[in-house]
Order: sequence, then C-alpha cells, then structure tokens
Amino acid sequence: MTESAAVPVSRPSVRIQDAVKSFDGRVVVDVADLTLGKHPVEGLIGPNGAGKTTLMRMVTHSISLDRGRVTFSTGTGAPDVVLSSKAPHAIARRGVVKTNQVIQDFDQLTIWDSLLLAASKAHDERALKIFREPHVWSEYGDEIDEYLNLFPFDNPFGFAKSAGEKKLLDIIRCLLLRPKLLLLDEPTAGLPAGIRDRVMELIKKKATEENVSVVVVEHDLNVIWNLSDYVHFMAEGRVVLQGDPPWIREHATVVEKYLGEGHVGR
Ligand SMILES: Nc1ncnc2c1ncn2[C@@H]1O[C@H](COP(=O)(O)OP(=O)(O)OP(=O)(O)O)[C@@H](O)[C@H]1O
Ligand SMILES: [Mg+2]
Repeated sequence: MTESAAVPVSRPSVRIQDAVKSFDGRVVVDVADLTLGKHPVEGLIGPNGAGKTTLMRMVTHSISLDRGRVTFSTGTGAPDVVLSSKAPHAIARRGVVKTNQVIQDFDQLTIWDSLLLAASKAHDERALKIFREPHVWSEYGDEIDEYLNLFPFDNPFGFAKSAGEKKLLDIIRCLLLRPKLLLLDEPTAGLPAGIRDRVMELIKKKATEENVSVVVVEHDLNVIWNLSDYVHFMAEGRVVLQGDPPWIREHATVVEKYLGEGHVGR
C-alpha cells in the first residue's frame, strides 16, 4: 500500500528492481521496484528478520543478489550507475555508504587512526599507505575534531572501548567518506538518550543542509517518527506499506499485525 503523492527525484537515490536474495533456499528479500532516497531522511522499518539489513547489503553489494538490479542516481542529471555489477569499495567511492548493525572490529586502530583511514579512503585507493600523510590531516583534522567534540569519546587517541563508542565511530567513519546516500543500520540502538539525540540532529543536518539522502533502519519507532520524511515498512522480505509517518501511523492495523500492538503510538 502506497501513499499517492508523487515526489520528483532530485536527490541522490537508489532504485532496486526485481531484486531477490535467498539464504539456504529461503527467499528473504523480494523487491519488485523500490526507490530509496527520494526524501531527505527515509525510515526502513519492520519486524526482526524482515530483510532490512539484507536489503541494505544488496544496495552496497556486500552480498550477491540472486537476481535483480540496483541503480544509483546522483540526482544531478549525471547518468545512472548500475551498482549491482560493482565491487563494494567502488560503490562507496560513488557515495553509497552503509554503517553496520553489528559493530566492526576497531581493536586494531585507535579512534583517530580509524578516522584518518576513512578520510584517506575518500580520495585514494592506496589508503593504507597514505593515511598518515599530512594532507589528510590538514584537510580532515578540523572536521574529525568537531565530531570528536560532539560525541565525547573516553580517549580519542586510544581504542574505542564500549559498543556505543564503536557505533559512533562507525557513523563518523561513514560521514568522512562524503556519502551521497547513507544507509544507517540501527544507528542509535544502545546509545544513551542524550547521545542518541545528537546523532539524530546530525543525521537531520546532513540530510537537509548537505543534501545527503539518509535511509535509517530503527526498531525504536519514536526515532523514526521524529526523523523520517517518509517510511518504508518491510515484512517477510517485501515492502508492504509506504508513506509519510502520519500515513503509516494511520495504518496501525498493518503495522501492528507485524510488530504487535502498541508500536504505532497514539
Ligand atoms: N548470512 C546469512 N546467512 C543465512 N541467513 C541469513 C543471513 N543473513 C540474514 N539471514 C536471514 O535472512 C532473514 C533476514 O535477515 P535480516 O538480517 O536482513 O533481517 P532484519 O530485518 O535486518 O532483522 P533485524 O531487525 O533483526 O536486524 C533472517 O531470517 C535472517 O536469519
Ligand atoms: Mg537488521
């Protein structure tokens, strides 16, 4: 079910067509035609196992597709790029970037080094060789400092310790890649309320002031209602409901069929 109003696409967006992914013979994503990124912030919601993470990984091609096609449009009139035939690092360099629901292992690099490495990757394939180069430091140092002030890390020159620090580090790392379309997989899960609000403000700012199209997966629907301009509701591998937050909340029976009563909030 879809809200009727058509929105012209002039932002970075991805179109997912006839895309299927199965694991062990079981179809977990089956999407006929879905565009993500028509709005500054879009929510992607649905019950556990609905296929949200898998769909995002199909977009960044970190898993193979059984069939289907994913294309990226910058929204600037440049020709579309077929992502589903590209390698993940090439997709990131085009500006389509995803954070991780499950925290990456940051135990090998300090917080500063992780961020300098991400910044180097934004403009050099040989990032590992050059990430201590002075130009990376001079170009990105202030920006990294700002992020580290916004989110107080215990020791920015040491390793990220808590799950929360690793989650924030992953988000900042993605932002330093200069994303055009940013996929956030449960970015605020497990964060204290004050920090969660700062993450939401930062996401909103990137989307509205810097034209980054942001797609957010979250189980906390209050985050979704506050943040999203549009919502895609997934269940059993398919998108079953789409619309702005009030429209989705009006269709409480569909949402509650999958999420249980009390999730829509009134
Ligand atoms: N690598 C994998 N191998 C086998 N099955 C997988 C794999 N990844 C995901 N699945 C299965 O695919 C289905 C969809 O998983 P996915 O992680 O995309 O759901 P999700 O909507 O992100 O759920 P959650 O809200 O719990 O994060 C689930 O049944 C899951 O067990
Ligand atoms: Mg998931």
